[in-house]
Amino acid sequence: MASITIRQLDDALKRRLRLRAARNGRSMEDEARTILRTASAGELPEQSGGNEAPRNLISPALPPAAPSFSLPQECQNRVLLIIGGGIAAYKSLDLIRRLKERGLGVRCILTRAALEFVTALSASALSGERVFVNLFDPTTEHDVGHIRLAREADLIVVAPATADLMAKMAAGAADDLASAVLLATEAKVLVAPAMNPRMWAHPATRRNLATLERDGVIVVGPRAGEMAEEGEAGIGRMAEPLEIVSAALPFLYSAGAQRTLSGRRVVVTSGPTHEPIDPVRYIANRSSGKQGHAIASAAAALGAEVLLVSGPVSLPDPVGVKTVKVETAQEMLSEISRGLPADVAIFAAAVADWRVEKPNTNKIKKQPGASPTVSLIENPDILATIGHRDKGRPRLVVGFAAETEQIIEHAKAKLARKGCDWMVANDVSTASGVMGGDCNTVHLITANGVESWPPQSKEAVARALVTRVADALAGAPS
Ligand code: CTP
Repeated sequence: MASITIRQLDDALKRRLRLRAARNGRSMEDEARTILRTASAGELPEQSGGNEAPRNLISPALPPAAPSFSLPQECQNRVLLIIGGGIAAYKSLDLIRRLKERGLGVRCILTRAALEFVTALSASALSGERVFVNLFDPTTEHDVGHIRLAREADLIVVAPATADLMAKMAAGAADDLASAVLLATEAKVLVAPAMNPRMWAHPATRRNLATLERDGVIVVGPRAGEMAEEGEAGIGRMAEPLEIVSAALPFLYSAGAQRTLSGRRVVVTSGPTHEPIDPVRYIANRSSGKQGHAIASAAAALGAEVLLVSGPVSLPDPVGVKTVKVETAQEMLSEISRGLPADVAIFAAAVADWRVEKPNTNKIKKQPGASPTVSLIENPDILATIGHRDKGRPRLVVGFAAETEQIIEHAKAKLARKGCDWMVANDVSTASGVMGGDCNTVHLITANGVESWPPQSKEAVARALVTRVADALAGAPS
């Protein structure tokens, strides 16, 4: 079967693909795959960017998505990437590429130790910018260049954040360019630690980590796995570049945007639920949790205090969000109820409608010629339970309607039946590729009418939705 190499595309096509991928919050490879998938389903939307305004606006009372929260134009936002001296520094070169693919400007500072692992030339070639190493560089310090670097960044990413760099940050040291910039900045700082598991577990690093978190630093990873040193394994591997990018993007989108959900509490459900049949089998569905997790991230990026109650998913916990993991619908309902009161509740989970009445304590054994019968009973409807509450009902309750036919009609009926204020309707038929995919085409149903939004990434849907939520709550008492 033929395979696509992005590098072989002509420059104009590559540029269009890059911009489109940036708008949709995907890598170029994923964007190409999405285009092919959409085309094979018989529909190829032209430039379906996350920053397009929703079409067919019927609902006059709802203002259009705020432009301040749309995806950045090329090089509108600038990331300052500080590469520390660890073996994971090689992954930071890929991180530069991933950030650039999303249309971001990337400037790099390499610590002296980082130069032992990667070269300034590689970082400069990939970022397309000059790389900074020295604090006392006569060519940049004539106008206090380290302060300028600190000021001109919308977000500072430290990757890999070594134990030494974290210690310097926690202590407020400023004896080299990286630490001086980190002390001088007012920008959000995200660190991706990477170190030997014993260094990560050391009480000194734990103390430094706690200090950094208290100072508002966002921490991504580290992950468990094998270390570069032979025979070493444990927690200490740097998070993968795409994970760092996903954690960074909400803060970049909100850099310069107002924190319009600050002081608000938002609860979100996400993912599928697993309903046990016996200790090894369960009833589930294809939900990936991508949409719910993106909503939680986007709400946190606008300053909300967010509780995410998630069924089993293979996604990292969103940064800056309190995530509670559950298995079943009953657990999801009790965690959401415990999480109230809240200003807003958004129900993006694909909750199993039924559970097995009496799950077997032991594994059901295969009997030749006889299939077991399981008796199902209805699960609680979490959205309807919260939506119909007399006391302590969130001011804004938003449901998601997963439909395969008569999408709007069914979603409108669900809105009324479940007592919610808004319903986000989406087509989850197999051809749509929504379940598990990165893209979503939704209709926002409110008391004012129906808006059909263009196909866009789940992150873009999330940003547009939480912007609407913030607009709807504007002026309401906290
Ligand atoms: N929902 C819920 N608890 C359930 C079932 C659904 O909270 N037990 C929520 C979902 O999170 C979603 C909305 O209700 O916000 C609609 O879910 P959906 O699966 O589309 O509808 P169902 O109520 O399951 O109805 P049907 O299966 O008939 O489409």
